Amino acid sequence: MTQATPQATPHTVQRTIVGKGIAHDSAARHVAGAANYIDDMPELPGTLHAAFVLSPVAHGRLKSIDPTQALATAGVAGVWWAKDVPGHNEVGPILEGETLFAEDIVDHEGRVIAVVAACDFETAYRAAKKVKVDIEPLEPVLDIEEAHRRRSYVLPPQEVIDGDVEMALASAPHVLSGTLHMGGQDHFYLETQIAYAIPGENGEMLVHSSTQHPTEVQHHVALILGLHANAVECQVRRMGGGFGGKESQATIIAGAAALVAAKTGKPCKMRLKRRDDMAGTGKRHDYVANWKVGVDSRGRILGLDVEYLARAGNLPDLTGPVITRTLTHTDNAYHIPHARFTGHACKTNTVSNTAFRGFGGPQGILTIENIIDTIARELKLDPNHVRAINYYGDATGEVTPYGQPVEDNRLIEVTEAVLASSDWQQRRAEIDAHNATNPVIRRGLAMMPVKFGISFNLTSLNQAGALVHVYLDGSIFLNHGGTEMGQGLFVKVAQVVAEVFQVELDMVRISSTATGKVPNTSATAASTGSDLNGMAAFKAATAIKARMTTVAAEHFGVEEEVITYREGRVHADNESVSFGELAKMSWLKRVQLSEAGHYATPKIHWDGKTMKGRPFFYFTYGAAVAEVAVDTLTGESRCLRADILQDVGSPLNPAIDLGQIEGAFVQGMGWLTCEELWWDKTGRLRTVGPSTYKIPGSRDVPPEFNVRILENAPNREETVFRSKAIGEPPLMLGVSVWLAIRDAIASLAKGGAAPQLDAPATPENVLRSVNALKQRLKKGLDDSR
Ligand code: MTE
Ligand code: HPA
Ligand code: MOS
Repeated sequence: MTQATPQATPHTVQRTIVGKGIAHDSAARHVAGAANYIDDMPELPGTLHAAFVLSPVAHGRLKSIDPTQALATAGVAGVWWAKDVPGHNEVGPILEGETLFAEDIVDHEGRVIAVVAACDFETAYRAAKKVKVDIEPLEPVLDIEEAHRRRSYVLPPQEVIDGDVEMALASAPHVLSGTLHMGGQDHFYLETQIAYAIPGENGEMLVHSSTQHPTEVQHHVALILGLHANAVECQVRRMGGGFGGKESQATIIAGAAALVAAKTGKPCKMRLKRRDDMAGTGKRHDYVANWKVGVDSRGRILGLDVEYLARAGNLPDLTGPVITRTLTHTDNAYHIPHARFTGHACKTNTVSNTAFRGFGGPQGILTIENIIDTIARELKLDPNHVRAINYYGDATGEVTPYGQPVEDNRLIEVTEAVLASSDWQQRRAEIDAHNATNPVIRRGLAMMPVKFGISFNLTSLNQAGALVHVYLDGSIFLNHGGTEMGQGLFVKVAQVVAEVFQVELDMVRISSTATGKVPNTSATAASTGSDLNGMAAFKAATAIKARMTTVAAEHFGVEEEVITYREGRVHADNESVSFGELAKMSWLKRVQLSEAGHYATPKIHWDGKTMKGRPFFYFTYGAAVAEVAVDTLTGESRCLRADILQDVGSPLNPAIDLGQIEGAFVQGMGWLTCEELWWDKTGRLRTVGPSTYKIPGSRDVPPEFNVRILENAPNREETVFRSKAIGEPPLMLGVSVWLAIRDAIASLAKGGAAPQLDAPATPENVLRSVNALKQRLKKGLDDSR
C-alpha cells in the first residue's frame, strides 16, 4: 500500500518552516476568547448536567446510599452508582480493580460514590448534596511514614541497584545522611476536568473529553458501558491545561458522563467545580526521602543509598511508573558508582496521586541536589565544584545505575555557559558582601543542572500514529494521536507537514484528536508529543509526497530527482505547477492522496524486573542559576533573577519552546516555594481553591529572567528534524530557586553547616530551617566552650 520512502528522513529535507518561532496556532483565539473549550460547545437540546456525590470522610464502610431526597428535587433526572454500571466499574490506567464508583469501602475524602444528573449544573450540584450516604467510619492512615511503618502499600517496592552500596558506605571517608520531605502539587489547570457525552444510535457514544489520553477514555467508556471499543469515539480539540492531571484521571469524569448518557439516552455534560476537582482528583506525589551518602574528602560520591516513600494515595493509578522515573532520575547529572535506590508506593487514605509534569523526576532530582548541596556545606567545599567533579564524564563514568550509557553529554557545556552568562563570580562576591552586612535580609545564589530522560519509561507506549489527507485544492488535513493542552504540539506537527510539502503553514488544517481517525494512541505525556506524533506525521506526509512526485515527474517528463517543492509550487527545471494543481493531477491518475503514518521509537528497552535497560531514547540537558532574597525574620522569599540555558536539540519552534521553558520553570518554582497542600487531622484537604492554595502569579516571575536555548545542538539521535522534547525538563530547573533559598539560609552559618530545609520552602519551613540552624550553631558553640 505505502510506497514508503525509507531513505527520506527529516534531516534530508530543507527547512523553511521548521525551526521558525511561529506563534501558537490558537494564540489569537486564546486571548480573544474564540478558542473553544468543552464548556463553550453549544449544548444539544435536552443536555443533562452531572455532579458527583463525594465521600465526606477519608475512610469508612459504605453501608447505604439513599437518593430519595435528591430524586424528589425538581429537574433531577437520576442518581447512579456502582450497582448501575452495565459493564465494568473500572478506571485503572494500568491495573484492574480501580473502581469509578466506590463499592464497599470509601478510601479517601472526595472519593466518588455516585453521580447525579439534572437539567442544569446548579440543580445537579445541590441535589448531589442531598444524596444520603451512610458510612461507618474506619481509622484512616494519612501519613506516609505511618503507612510505611504499617507496610501499607499499593504496589511492591521497586529497586535500582548498581555495585555494592554497603561496601562503599563502609569504606567511605565521610558518610552523611538525612531525610527530605517533599510536598505534592495540584495541577491547577485553568479548565477543571470536564466531559460531554453524546449518545448515538445503536449504542454508540461520542465523548468530548478534556483528556491527554483519548484512547484511554475510549476504552474505559466502552468497558464501563459494556461495549466494544469501536462503539465509542473520544474527541479532544484542546485542554485548558493538563500538566499530567488529565493523563489517567480524565476517565473518571468521562466515564460518569457517558454512564448518564447511556442510562438516559440524553447528552450529558460533567464539569467539576474547582473544589471538587482538587478534592476528588490526584496530584503530584509528596515524598519522603531517607538518604545516606559516602564521599571522599574532595566531595566525590562513592556510594548512595536512598529510600523513597511516595504517597500513592488510595490506589496505584500511575504510581508505579512515577516511582520508576524517580529512581531513574536520582542520579541526575552525577555518576554514582555504587547505588541503591528504593521506592515504596505508600497506601494512604488520601486521593490517588497521578502524573504531574516531570512524573517523579522532580522528586529524584530534588533529592540528589539536596544531597550534593549538603555534601558541599558539611565538607566546606564549593557546591558547584562538588557538582562538577561528580558529573558524568570520562573521569567518573558514563553509565547510569540503571544501565543506560550517557551519550552526547552536554553537562559541562550547559553549566559553564550559564555560569558565565549569569556573571556568577561577580554576583557571588556581591551577594557574600551583602550578607556580611545585612543580618535580616539574606541573599542566596545557586546553580544546578538537569539531565532528563526522554521516552515513556514503559517501552510499549512509545508509538504514535498520524493521518494526513491532501485535498484537490492543495489544502492539507492533519490529524494525529497527540493532544493539545497549550504546549504548542499542534503547531509543531503542522510545521513538520508544511515543511515536507513546502506549503504555507495555513494550508495545513489542524484538527481535533479523535480515536476514530487515529487509533490506539498513547497519552500525550512524557514530553514525547512532538517526537512521536511529529515523526508519524512526517512519515505520512512523506509517503504522499513520494506518490505525488511520481505524478509530477511523468507530467514534466523528467526524472523524479529533478522535482522540487518550493513556496507552494512543484518545480521541474524551468516549469512548475501549483501544489493544488499537482494534487488534482494525482487524483485524475487515481493516486492515493491520503496516508496513515506510524512511528515507534527505536533503540529503547526496559526490564522492569531487574530495573535495567535503555529506557530513554536520549537525554536533554539544561542548567539554571537563581538568585533569591530571604527575610530571615518572616521566612518570606523572592526569586530576583533566573538565568536558564536549555538544550532542545534543533528546535521545531523556538518561540513555543521558550514559552515552555519559562512556564515550566515558574511551575517548578511554585512547587518548591508557595504551593502547599494541607490535609487536616481527619484527612480532609483544606487547600481546595486559589484562596488557600497559592500558585505563582505574574508578579512571582523573576523580574530578571534570562532564558536561552542552547544553539547549534542538533539531537544526535534521529528525532524529527533533530529536535528534542521540551515539555517537562525545565520544570526541574525550578530546583535552583530552592537551592538558592538554602544558600541564603546557610549564609547565617558562614559556610559552616548545611541547613535542613523541607519542600516547599514556605515561610514556615524557611523559619523552621533558620531556627534549627541557629540552634545547631548555638549548640556547637556551647559544646566547644
Ligand atoms: N504546557 C502547557 N501550556 N499546558 C500543559 O498542560 N503539560 C506539560 C507540558 N507542557 C502542559 C504544558 C506536560 S506534563 C507534558 S508531558 C507535555 O507538555 C506534553 O506535551 P508534549 O509532549 O507535546 O511536550
Ligand atoms: N511519563 C508520563 N506518563 C507515563 C510515563 C512517563 O514516563 N510512563 C508511563 N506513563
Ligand atoms: Mo506529563 S506529567 O508526562 O503529562
